[in-house]
Amino acid sequence: MTERTLVRRRPPAVRLRQATTTDVWEIVGLLTEASVWAEAWTRLPMWPIPYPADRVRAAVDRGEVIVAVAGDRLVGTMTLSEEDKPIWGPQPPEAGYVHRLAVRREFAGRGLGARLLREAETRIRRRGRSKIRLDTLASNARLVRYYRELGFRRVGRVRAGPFGEERDLVLLERRLGPPRRGRPGRNRPSAERLGRRGPAAGAAGTAGRRARTCRSG
Ligand SMILES: CC(C)(COP(=O)(O)OP(=O)(O)OC[C@H]1O[C@@H](n2cnc3c(N)ncnc32)[C@H](O)[C@@H]1OP(=O)(O)O)[C@@H](O)C(=O)NCCC(=O)NCCS
Repeated sequence: MTERTLVRRRPPAVRLRQATTTDVWEIVGLLTEASVWAEAWTRLPMWPIPYPADRVRAAVDRGEVIVAVAGDRLVGTMTLSEEDKPIWGPQPPEAGYVHRLAVRREFAGRGLGARLLREAETRIRRRGRSKIRLDTLASNARLVRYYRELGFRRVGRVRAGPFGEERDLVLLERRLGPPRRGRPGRNRPSAERLGRRGPAAGAAGTAGRRARTCRSG
């Protein structure tokens, strides 16, 4: 194992914060880059390219967008909403809904996606809710597996078209236990667990594989 490998496996030094309007274009760039990568990788369309700035701006204005910052760059993002009627329908106020989870490629494979999801959990719990939910394209086996590795389970399937064309989406949910400190538990996303994966993690580890992309908006 080389020194470079050891450095690559460490979770990146980032801080998480709520996005502001000045972040909108960088977030659009990040989502567009993620979509280009996923499309090249899977040979299937994912999010629109470029990602619609009006959707990002509206979510930022609602205070729903979180960004991961390394130095002066945004290297990850997600949107956390209190409801998602177009995909989940009317629901009791018991969950938070994650969308637009994305990490810059050079920061991928080191647990940053899981770290963002942990932040979502913290915020969901703070609002007195007990479940984290998201959706992805049903046929994207690799992405569904990624979420299942993080403790999510399938709770349904819907046909919906966040960007127009309708697709089969799988609904994923994780019940939030009480906050736990120390070692990663069975029932929580673990950046540490992902961060410990070998040098094949991330883009290199998926070489040659073909999966389908997420269509959630
Ligand atoms: C999903 C994401 C945030 C996770 O970031 P991360 O914590 O750094 O983890 P990785 O990038 O290593 O991704 C985990 C695994 O999922 C795979 N994966 C990620 N996005 C994928 C996609 N859109 N389609 C298929 N597989 C995907 C990765 O290739 C990797 O597989 P591997 O372990 O076999 O190499 C990041 O990969 C990303 O930005 N993906 C593109 C955008 C996306 O698909 N977001 C999810 C929307 S539902």
